[in-house]
Amino acid sequence: MQIELATVHQHIPIQGGYYLLVMLAPDIAPCVRPGQFIHVKVPHLEECLLRRPFSVFWTEGERLAILYKDVGRGTRTLQYLKPGESLSILGPLGRGFPDPDPGRFPVIVAGGYGMAALYMTARSAPTKGIAFFGGRSAKDILCVGEFEAQGWSVQITTEDGSLGRKGIVTDALDDWWVASGRQVRPELFACGPGGMLKAVAQRALERGWEAWTSVDNNMGCGVGACLTCVLKVRGDNGWSWARACREGPVFNVRDVLWEEVE
Ligand SMILES: Cc1cc2nc3c(=O)[nH]c(=O)nc-3n(C[C@H](O)[C@H](O)[C@H](O)COP(=O)(O)OP(=O)(O)OC[C@H]3O[C@@H](n4cnc5c(N)ncnc54)[C@H](O)[C@@H]3O)c2cc1C
Ligand code: FES
Repeated sequence: MQIELATVHQHIPIQGGYYLLVMLAPDIAPCVRPGQFIHVKVPHLEECLLRRPFSVFWTEGERLAILYKDVGRGTRTLQYLKPGESLSILGPLGRGFPDPDPGRFPVIVAGGYGMAALYMTARSAPTKGIAFFGGRSAKDILCVGEFEAQGWSVQITTEDGSLGRKGIVTDALDDWWVASGRQVRPELFACGPGGMLKAVAQRALERGWEAWTSVDNNMGCGVGACLTCVLKVRGDNGWSWARACREGPVFNVRDVLWEEVE
């Protein structure tokens, strides 16, 4: 983990309030593992000291990309960064996704920016499997071309039916399980809103799937000191606290007390 002054290389709006920010970060970029995140100090937001966490979308050499959505003050201010400007980033942080088990069939389930957070796993997986993407509408579905170019089969679900099948992402996951999923030994990798993660975890536990989820709780320090990001996990005496920023954000579904996750 280190702090680096990265330089903006490319910064473009994608769709639906999402932006692609590519930085030159020669110290941090080569060290990032799939599912890890960086903590960004938003320039020109001096009254707000806290950094903002973002999953690493991809790295190539000394380049590092994030895909972020405009949801509040920090991300709105970030949008004004121009190529050549610099920003302080801290990373790589957290425990990411493990390497996919070559003896299992990889399955990705993603909502919102989860599609970006899972792309490095999709790229490095030795076997390409099936990816289920869900969102409210077409503008929430990202990175389809990137996943397909890596050999993944992508199934899209939108709540309003504006792209792919109408419904929620677990509808498509359930149908796949009934039609063909039972014939393979799945290993799931999931990132998205808490409700989606819970629904995926419930299925994984009931059906005996190996499964990993990125639990992206709100964060303060990002390095294990402030306890803003804690969640309950199974422990020797029933349960204990874990810090999403240090022991996670990626957890095996068996370790999380899902009834406590919001
Ligand atoms: C490990 C991790 C990885 C993340 N990766 C990405 C990413 O790749 N792309 C991306 O767009 N966002 C990502 N996020 C969420 C991102 O950090 C927040 O959207 C951002 O910090 C909001 O900052 P803000 O100042 O714009 O909004 P604020 O003004 O701080 O908040 C505005 C709204 O966003 C909500 N919000 C704040 N933090 C989160 C969060 N962690 N999850 C969900 N909602 C939140 C708040 O509840 C509030 O409703 C990630 C979060 C974590 C913890
Ligand atoms: S964000 Fe401070 S301990 Fe996790």
